[in-house]
Amino acid sequence: MSNIPEDFKEKIISLCKRRGFVFQSSEIYGGLKSAYDYGPLGVELKRNLMNEWWKSMVHEREDVIGLDASIIMHPKVWESSGHLAGFSDPLVDCLISKERFRADKAPRPNIGEKLPIKCNDKGQAKNYQKIIEDRYEIQLKRDGKTLNGLKIIDKNTFGFFIDNDENAIKTFDYKGYVGPTFGSPFLSDERQFNLMFRSQIGPVDALGQITNYVEKNRDLDSNELRKGIDKIVKESAVYLRPETAQAMFVQFLNCQQTMSMKIPFGIAQMGKSFRNEITTEHFIFRSCEFEQMEMEFFVEPGSQKKWLEYWRDKRISWWKKYANHPENFRYRSHEKDELAHYADACYDIEYKYPWGYDELEGVASRTDYDLKKHAENSGTKLSYFDQQKVDPETGKNGWRYTPYVIEPAAGATRGLLVYLMDAYCEETVKDANGNETTRIVMKLHPKLAPIKAAVLPLVKKEGLPEIARDIVNKLFISGINARYDEQHSIGKRYRRHDEAGTPYCITIDGQTKEDNTVTIRDRDTMEQERINLKDVQTIIQKKLSAS
Ligand code: GAP
Repeated sequence: MSNIPEDFKEKIISLCKRRGFVFQSSEIYGGLKSAYDYGPLGVELKRNLMNEWWKSMVHEREDVIGLDASIIMHPKVWESSGHLAGFSDPLVDCLISKERFRADKAPRPNIGEKLPIKCNDKGQAKNYQKIIEDRYEIQLKRDGKTLNGLKIIDKNTFGFFIDNDENAIKTFDYKGYVGPTFGSPFLSDERQFNLMFRSQIGPVDALGQITNYVEKNRDLDSNELRKGIDKIVKESAVYLRPETAQAMFVQFLNCQQTMSMKIPFGIAQMGKSFRNEITTEHFIFRSCEFEQMEMEFFVEPGSQKKWLEYWRDKRISWWKKYANHPENFRYRSHEKDELAHYADACYDIEYKYPWGYDELEGVASRTDYDLKKHAENSGTKLSYFDQQKVDPETGKNGWRYTPYVIEPAAGATRGLLVYLMDAYCEETVKDANGNETTRIVMKLHPKLAPIKAAVLPLVKKEGLPEIARDIVNKLFISGINARYDEQHSIGKRYRRHDEAGTPYCITIDGQTKEDNTVTIRDRDTMEQERINLKDVQTIIQKKLSAS
């Protein structure tokens, strides 16, 4: 059962801003599209999530080691990996609305279906009607804010029909899809667009070089000029990594040899990746700057299927472990035509978002593609010698081979969105006067919760703040992220911490001074228990490690 509200965008985005989980980047300047900042609670949640991943992938395993590589790598890395040539999206422009979108993600109505163009309002509909009339000499029928009259005839053609006429007045080329926002079939040809962010490295000013080149070559035609400029730019071009994975291939030998790793073993890395995404969508689901948690697991050729299934199962159970609604996670095997150029099989771990099941993590069988390409292009042997094995080709003892790779590649920022959605809960409760009211509570797993315990003096006097501060300090010493909070009424403070996802609230009241007890309130049940002041630390610690 899903707990995600229909109007999740408004509700979760507004809670994220209100409580300091996620802010729009550079908000005071009007915001930067599709870039986000993780606020005081968001940064804790993201770190907790990534630390849990690191713990389960590296610290709790003998066969996985870590790496923290630079974001900018040698440009040849991206040539070898195929990102420079192939990491591009087919882009299309709607010729009416100017909307730019990815062809492979666009809606695909079927033969015989009508193609209504759905505008935002009547004014826009009139405007688009006029553009279509001027450009294509057909007058679509306007019905409020919808333009009617177009229908798909066959897989390559759509036509303009008047009322229920069987024959089209005019026909046009159909590309097989329509613009996602308005449904327009009047589209440009597809163009490829590289998703990597390019920058320059080194002291040489490429702009100066380009200016000189253009001045000296004024007689060249624009194609020739472009080629020359492209060459200058490429000489000092570097790219922001679009995935963390490549560093694990490039550093395969260094990692394996320094740690004397035996196959099968993995190298894990988490950190920022950058993609100049054309369609950024659903808040932080798809953004241009995001964080990944990836692991390359090197295995013997022929054993990849077994390991792919192993990591698929491990990873999906990891996601479910921290969820209130594990039934919202599933995995899906890729169809042959969906596979990336380097993969022979792949599973997507998907979550049931409000817009339907969509990707959260990919678990791919990347074959020996990357190691072989890097070996070929760098001239360094990226292979492994197993003395204990017999070479299957020669039948002799000792086998040198290029390892195959299984890659669980998860989105950390996307994971954060998933857990925010999973935690969001609206409950009807009674307020202090017995009236029904809505309580918003973020039921974040205690291991992920940004603040583990809030310590609240009932009043700001009579020595209660001092006792509260002493508890906070003791919690700090035991490594528990606690918060002292004395602002507003106790009811408001409980609500604030419900929204922040704080699993435990410790309240110091009049009775504390009499019998050295405090109350501990559970976020999810709202039940309060009186415990001994001296036991606070151990009880919270026990609750956190039991979770
Ligand atoms: N090394 C393989 C790789 O990068 P991917 O499926 O492109 O594979 C892995 O990315 C994960 O990274 C995705 O499942 C998703 O969670 C996350 N991710 C990819 N692009 C993203 C974007 N633009 N914004 C947020 N997360 C993204």
